[in-house]
Amino acid sequence: MDRFLIRGGRPLHGEIPIGGAKNSALKLLVAGLLTSERLVLSNVPRIDDIATMRVLLAQHGITVEDVGGPGGVPGAGQVLSVGGDIANTEAPYDIVSKMRASILVLGPLLARAREARVSLPGGCAIGTRPVDLHLKGLEALGAEIRLEAGYIDARAPAGLIGARIVLPFASVGATENLLMAATLASGRTEIVNAAREPEIDDLVACLNAMGARVTGAGTGILVIDGVERLHGARHAVVSDRIECGTYACAVGIAGGDVRLVGGQVRHLRAVVRTLEEAGIEVVEEEDAMRVRRSGRLRGVDVMTEPYPGFPTDMQAQFMALFSVAEGASMMTETIFENRFMHVPELNRMGARINVHGSSAIIRGVDSLSGAQVMATDLRASFSLILAGLAASGETMLSRVYHLDRGYEAVERKLSGCGAVIERVSG
Ligand code: UD1
Repeated sequence: MDRFLIRGGRPLHGEIPIGGAKNSALKLLVAGLLTSERLVLSNVPRIDDIATMRVLLAQHGITVEDVGGPGGVPGAGQVLSVGGDIANTEAPYDIVSKMRASILVLGPLLARAREARVSLPGGCAIGTRPVDLHLKGLEALGAEIRLEAGYIDARAPAGLIGARIVLPFASVGATENLLMAATLASGRTEIVNAAREPEIDDLVACLNAMGARVTGAGTGILVIDGVERLHGARHAVVSDRIECGTYACAVGIAGGDVRLVGGQVRHLRAVVRTLEEAGIEVVEEEDAMRVRRSGRLRGVDVMTEPYPGFPTDMQAQFMALFSVAEGASMMTETIFENRFMHVPELNRMGARINVHGSSAIIRGVDSLSGAQVMATDLRASFSLILAGLAASGETMLSRVYHLDRGYEAVERKLSGCGAVIERVSG
């Protein structure tokens, strides 16, 4: 298993390319299930979750072909062509349990093949994460759903029928599953209290390019007029706001001046506000988000919320940042339970963090010290890299596979700006 060896204490200077959004690209690949024509996606990040999604789609009979793209250049992205006829409507446990986003094939399979059997995702490192909202919404669209032997068995023999669905919580995944299913339902569907994340706008744009009739992206109410069939299209994946925010934190904690090329400030308002309150300068440039820090970091109180609020996917990275800030910070997590698994590891590096229920108090220390630490989930892993960039001495981060699921070429992007980080294999 690969590990990262980090020698801290170097400020970052230069440019880091920001890739296409993992959380958008995964759903866009799934959208390929909705048509037999080719959907060509560009700016797809080269990460393990995309490879897993390709395996899942392949066993449904959908081929995903590489059709060019500047090979090997970090951030340049790959171009993938998705399409084919659905040969198998079962999403097996071994893939779904590896990647929760697999649940998103449920709606599209039901809509196009009128049946689906998808493994329940099961336990997950960040809380229980049920899928009840996905299932209730699909039932409202006329699907018959049974849970049996750890699988969701769903059928809609006469096709899905448009309905008004009010989500009690603006779940990202439920919004996407229902949105995709509704594109091929008969009549009109309204999803009220729909999630407003930029990745959902991106999915709507792609679906509309495929012939869907969806309005209301970003407003919290999606209106979908079902069509009989969707066709092929070309679409470029939106830039990854979480990758951009994560590297902004890297500059924040290590100091320096870096242009995050392709980063979009308009998708990161809450994050930028917090960076600025913490003493980090952010400048919006035409093609980049530029981040600088020379003075001392300051603590800030933050609460995670659905978009446009502060993203839960940036929580762990900011906790690393606040560990070395002046004064105390409070981080309150409202989206997921049990999402403070990075805390014991940060504390082993000298941070002073206490967790009380869904809040954590971070008392800033003057410096962290390198240690052997272990990654527990995707974003938590990066918080340990950030701590390692600021720490004195060496940090050895194990279980890097968590990181490889969602961040492309981390060591190349960081070392290109002066960080000392290397991948140690075996
Ligand atoms: C997506 C993102 C993830 C991000 C999260 C919140 C992907 C692949 N993942 O996850 O990175 O952290 O949005 O921004 O895009 N819930 C229910 N019932 C449901 C569905 C969700 O109770 O049927 C709860 C979850 O347990 C959780 C909360 O709603 O507490 C948010 O989940 P959701 O917005 O659905 O997140 P995901 O789509 O799983």
